[in-house]
Amino acid sequence: MRMVELIEKKRNGKELTPQEIRFIIQGYVRNEIPDYQIAAWTMAVYFQGMTVKETAELTLAMAESGDQLDLSIPGRIFVDKHSSGGVGDKTTLIVAPMVAACGVPIAKMSGRGLGHTGGTIDKLSAIPGFQVELTEKKFLQQVQTIGLSVIAQTGSVVPADKKLYALRDVTATVDTIPLIASSIMSKKIAAGAQGIVLDVKYGSGAFMATLAEATKLADIMVGIGKNLNREMVAVLSDMSQPLGNAVGNAIEVLEAVDCLQGHGPADLMEVCMELGSWMLVLGKKADSTQDASIMLHEAIRTGKAFDKFLEFVRAQGGNERLVSKKELPLAPIKIAYCADKTGYIQHIDARTIGTLAMHLGAGRETKDSPIDLGSGVYLLKKTGDAIQAGEPVCYLYTSSPEKTPLALEKAAEAITLGDVRPYYQKLVSTVIR
Ligand code: URA
Repeated sequence: MRMVELIEKKRNGKELTPQEIRFIIQGYVRNEIPDYQIAAWTMAVYFQGMTVKETAELTLAMAESGDQLDLSIPGRIFVDKHSSGGVGDKTTLIVAPMVAACGVPIAKMSGRGLGHTGGTIDKLSAIPGFQVELTEKKFLQQVQTIGLSVIAQTGSVVPADKKLYALRDVTATVDTIPLIASSIMSKKIAAGAQGIVLDVKYGSGAFMATLAEATKLADIMVGIGKNLNREMVAVLSDMSQPLGNAVGNAIEVLEAVDCLQGHGPADLMEVCMELGSWMLVLGKKADSTQDASIMLHEAIRTGKAFDKFLEFVRAQGGNERLVSKKELPLAPIKIAYCADKTGYIQHIDARTIGTLAMHLGAGRETKDSPIDLGSGVYLLKKTGDAIQAGEPVCYLYTSSPEKTPLALEKAAEAITLGDVRPYYQKLVSTVIR
C-alpha cells in the first residue's frame, strides 16, 4: 500500500477499506507516514467526507493505537463526558464533582484548548500546584479512593489523536464531522467508561455551525458508541454566545466555584444540570433525569459537590485554600468595555469572544506557545439584557498593555446592541439516545 494512492483515492471521493484506514493510522503513529501526507489526507477528508462505516473504522483504529484503560471494577459503573468544544465551556469542572458527590465515579482524560475554544486541562493548570499529569496507576488509585480524577490525555492513550489533533489545529481541518467524531469517540472508547454523555455544541463558538450539523455529528458518535456496547446520550446545546460569564482559565475556575457554591449563572447551570442528570441515569444512580436533577441540586445545597471539588484539587496537589477563598490570581490589567448607547444586548458572538480571549493571552497562538492563565474576559451582560450608555458590558484581563487597543476593537465586533429585546433562544434543544 502507498500513502499517495490513498490520498488520491480519498481526494477522488472513494470509500477507504478498513485495512487502508489502519495502514494510515498505524503508519502515522509509527512515524512511517510524514505530517505532510497526513495533512493532505485530512484535507481530502475535509472536502470529500467519510461514510459512517469509514468513520467507525477510523475511530477503532485510533482507539487501538495505544493503551486502553480497564475500568471494569465489579459493582461500579463509570460514566464519562466529552464536549465537542466551545467558548466559556467549563462544564467538566462543575459536572464532574457534582456527579462524583452523588456516587458515580469519574475517571476523565481531558484536552487542552483547540482553535478558539478553551480546554479543561489549561483551566485546571490555573490552580497553583495542580498536577494534570498523573501515571495511569495513580489516576486509577485516586478514582478508587475519592471517586474523581481528571488528567491530561497521556501520550500512551490514543497517540493517533494526540498527533492528529495538533496537526488539524494548524491545517484548518478541525471542523469536519468524521475527524471530530473519531477524535472524540476514540478517546472515550480507550478511556474505558461504560457510559458516555456527549455535550455537542452548535453555533458560532462551536465547530458545528448549525443544529442540523450537530445532530449529524451526535448521531454518528452515538451510533459508534452503541455498536461498541457503550450506553450513550448526546445533549445538543446552543453555543452562539459564550456559556456563563467567564472566558479564560483562572477566571473560569472561579466561575465554576460560584456554580458549585450555588450561585452560578443560569445558562451554565442549565447545561450542567442536563449533562449531570444524564450521567447519574447512565451510572444507575437515578431512574430519571428528574430524580437525578433533585440529587444534583441537593449535592450543591448541602455543600457536598463543592467539598468533592476541594478534595479533588487537594488530591492532585492544587492549592485548595486559594480555590476556596476564590483568590486565584487574575492578570493585572483590567479594562472595561462599555456600551456606547442605551438598549439591549442583541448578540455576543462566541467565536469572536473566544478569539479575543486568545488574543488577551488565554489561548495558544502556536502549538507550543505559553498561556497567560490569568487573562480572559468577564461578561457582565448576556444576550437579552438591558444596558445603559456608558455601563460596562465586560471586563478584559491581560498582562500585556499593548494588547488592549485590538482587544477593545474585538469586543466591539463581538457585542451587538439594539433598541428591542431579542427573542429568547432555547439553550438545550435535543437529547439523542
Ligand atoms: N474535541 C475533540 O476532542 N476533538 C475534536 O476534534 C474536536 C473537539
